[in-house]
Amino acid sequence: MSLTLETIISLAKRRGFVFQSSEVYGGLNGCWDFGPLGVELLRNIKEQWWRAMTLRDDIEGLDAAILMHPRTWEASGHVEQFADPMIDNRTSKARYRADTLIEEFIERLRAKGKHEQADLLDQRLRTAQTADDYYAIIIEAQIPDPVSGTRDWTPVRYFNLMFKTYVGPVEDSSNIVYLRPETAQGIFVNFKNVLDSSRRKLPFGIAQIGKAFRNEINTKYFLYRTREFEQMEMQYFIRPGTESEYFDYWREQRFQWFLSLGMREEMLRLKPHDKLAHYATAAVDIEFKFPFGWGEIEGIHSRTDYDLRRHQEYSGKRFEYTDPFTGEKFIPYVIETSVGATRSLMAFLCGAYAEEEAPTADGKTEVRTVLRFHPLLAPVKIAVLPLVNKEGMPERAEAIYRDLQRRWKTQYDDSGAIGRRYRRQDEIGTPYCVTIDGQTLQDGTVTVRDRDSMLQQRLPADRLIEYFSEVLSS
Ligand code: GAP
Repeated sequence: MSLTLETIISLAKRRGFVFQSSEVYGGLNGCWDFGPLGVELLRNIKEQWWRAMTLRDDIEGLDAAILMHPRTWEASGHVEQFADPMIDNRTSKARYRADTLIEEFIERLRAKGKHEQADLLDQRLRTAQTADDYYAIIIEAQIPDPVSGTRDWTPVRYFNLMFKTYVGPVEDSSNIVYLRPETAQGIFVNFKNVLDSSRRKLPFGIAQIGKAFRNEINTKYFLYRTREFEQMEMQYFIRPGTESEYFDYWREQRFQWFLSLGMREEMLRLKPHDKLAHYATAAVDIEFKFPFGWGEIEGIHSRTDYDLRRHQEYSGKRFEYTDPFTGEKFIPYVIETSVGATRSLMAFLCGAYAEEEAPTADGKTEVRTVLRFHPLLAPVKIAVLPLVNKEGMPERAEAIYRDLQRRWKTQYDDSGAIGRRYRRQDEIGTPYCVTIDGQTLQDGTVTVRDRDSMLQQRLPADRLIEYFSEVLSS
């Protein structure tokens, strides 16, 4: 089975994972709403990340405001440099990111077997820096507009991705603030506050989860590139000279985190950056194999002391650390781990999706859709199903449901044939179904069906809490 994006989007909508934002008004491009199951899945991903980051000796949490002093973004370089090269086609009026337009053209060349030409363009793209560089590639390679097929291009211009707004009632340039394009800067500007209030020593990290906004030129691939999204970022502050050791450490930790939550290794890869930012000494992406191809889900960056030094310069406040043993003063270096919560939700959703043959009650087979979520991520953990709606089964099932629901997200479903109900739960990734049948009324046992193996075992109903505490905890 080769999974398509349409299949995922359609399942996500039908079962209440993700809806288009303000759909009743025709939607808002690049924005999505998380429905009843999506919000559970997103919270579970964030919870697992938060636990992995903060249930250790060396990382503190933070929740900084989305709106920050505008000098923050001057210091970080975002006002000047956080821009993408864009180009318009005069005939179709379509707007593209110039680098993406070239990349997609290269892919088309490769698909046609024109590898030499593709390699040459790829080489030029890697070294392109300015608007003129991108424009020259597009014109010289005669790249057509994918929509109109014409080559009627405007010059390439840079477009800043930060959303601007104003504080207070006056829309004046002195009142401009930006919606943060990354959560990281909230961590950098609070470095001293966290250091002093928590009395930390290096190395230590600060972790934060929160919304970020980018006015992307082309949103695409569902949750992959959106204008509003959520990030989970951690800045690890270290002594200069130890960056390579900690870079390797965090790259390994973060890769293992995805595996520990059920992602298959063949769906992941590490991709070192070809081009490093001027302040970075190393950068690697963790990529996931999406239905459209490989795409970044997390970046691990060795950022030197660039950010803290810039904030020291722009704020006039000291960002130095004093070594408690030697008295030496220095600005710490930083290893950053930065993962999209919403983008990784899409990866977890795609990675969990399977279609496979399953037996029916009358001995035939049918194709079932199943989301093989790790139990810690599954939006619903247990479904309670009375086999029939009579003979005291609903009452018994209801009591069991109430008991389980107090501890885990549990669904009660009594409508339709039992096989159909199992399929409905498979399709949303519920790891366990508890069925109350005739035997339950006689000996107090129920069946517990495992989503992946579809095998059932009988357990005493009064042992369910103990059983699920074990199987749903790791
Ligand atoms: N502080 C570093 C930073 O923000 P980034 O590579 O720009 O680095 C980190 O973003 C992660 O944030 C990405 O790996 C991706 O998961 C997520 N992300 C970035 N832009 C996004 C967008 N437009 N839509 C959804 N997720 C995005």
